[in-house]
Amino acid sequence: METIQQLLDEAERAIAQAQSTAELQAVETHYLGRKGAIGQLLRQLGTLPPEQRPQFGQQVNAAREHLERLFAERRTALEQAELAQRIEAERVDITLPGAPLRPARLHPLTLTMQRVKRALTGLGFEFVDGYDLERFEYNFGALNYPDDHPAMDEQNSFHIAPGYLLRTQTTSIQGRVFEQLQRGERSLPIRIAIIGRCYRYENVDATHSHTFHQVDAFMVDEGVSMAHLKGVLTQFAQLMFGAEVRVRFRPDFFPFVEPGVDFAISWKGGWLELGGAGLIHPNILERYGIDTERYSGFAFGLGIERIPMLQYGVDDLRLFLENDLRFLEQFPLL
Ligand code: FA5
Repeated sequence: METIQQLLDEAERAIAQAQSTAELQAVETHYLGRKGAIGQLLRQLGTLPPEQRPQFGQQVNAAREHLERLFAERRTALEQAELAQRIEAERVDITLPGAPLRPARLHPLTLTMQRVKRALTGLGFEFVDGYDLERFEYNFGALNYPDDHPAMDEQNSFHIAPGYLLRTQTTSIQGRVFEQLQRGERSLPIRIAIIGRCYRYENVDATHSHTFHQVDAFMVDEGVSMAHLKGVLTQFAQLMFGAEVRVRFRPDFFPFVEPGVDFAISWKGGWLELGGAGLIHPNILERYGIDTERYSGFAFGLGIERIPMLQYGVDDLRLFLENDLRFLEQFPLL
């Protein structure tokens, strides 16, 4: 029969050798569990002569208490080691650089349109929406194009269905706004602007695309003259390009203005054409029942792509449509 001392020696070795709390638990069950070695010793108690029993009982109890203490100490040590190990394994190095985030940014044309909107809104124009798929009538007829006028050929159109085309110019909003006036949904004076896509069936090159953007603005009030047009365009150009910019008019023809001009801004010692303008043709005002003795209006329109091309020195408009990030990422975030 194993003596108590042998059992203690053996148990102490096993405790010292246990490398984890799980292993220690197995050892503990082996010695102190219900069917463990200490329990078996106690069960021998009954087989001893009565006079030996108290002493043997005390020895076994002392051995159990001794082992309980050793187990507790070893468990604490192992728990601490395991915790330290886990902390080490799960450590996050907060000084490591994070995964780079690619900041989203607005397209240079979107940024430009936002600036145009801010400038014209500041000058008192209300922005309205039109339709990319427009009725032929609004794109041309309502704008005083005589039937079969060659000016319509200049703007070769994408005809989508009988009577419908992709608008070639944002000026096509005028007829819709004048109809609102007629229906009493608006009243004079008006200052309206629109910005959006236009489409023309033409040979694509560095300055022409089949899809591009225009902004149009027009105003109708009493006594509106070319001087108002020039004043507004000059302020607009200065807000967009800088306070030193001047505006130049040269005669030009558009069926919906009289007189008609093209306008250019002073730029790097020369002049750069931006778009067309003029006083709204009296035929149009009369067509919508506006008293031309009392009221007159101006209108102007220009391409959007031209603006960032000038501003950033981009020499090919197609770059704005290709969505090549190497190009787009060169523009400021805001
Ligand atoms: C017009 O479209 C007139 N509606 C402008 C206007 C409005 C005149 C109000 C008078 C009163 P134009 O066809 O010139 O005019 O076009 C105006 C601008 O749009 C051009 O100066 C150019 O900047 C831009 N544009 C025209 N076609 C293209 C194209 N294919 N690609 C890129 N930009 C274009």
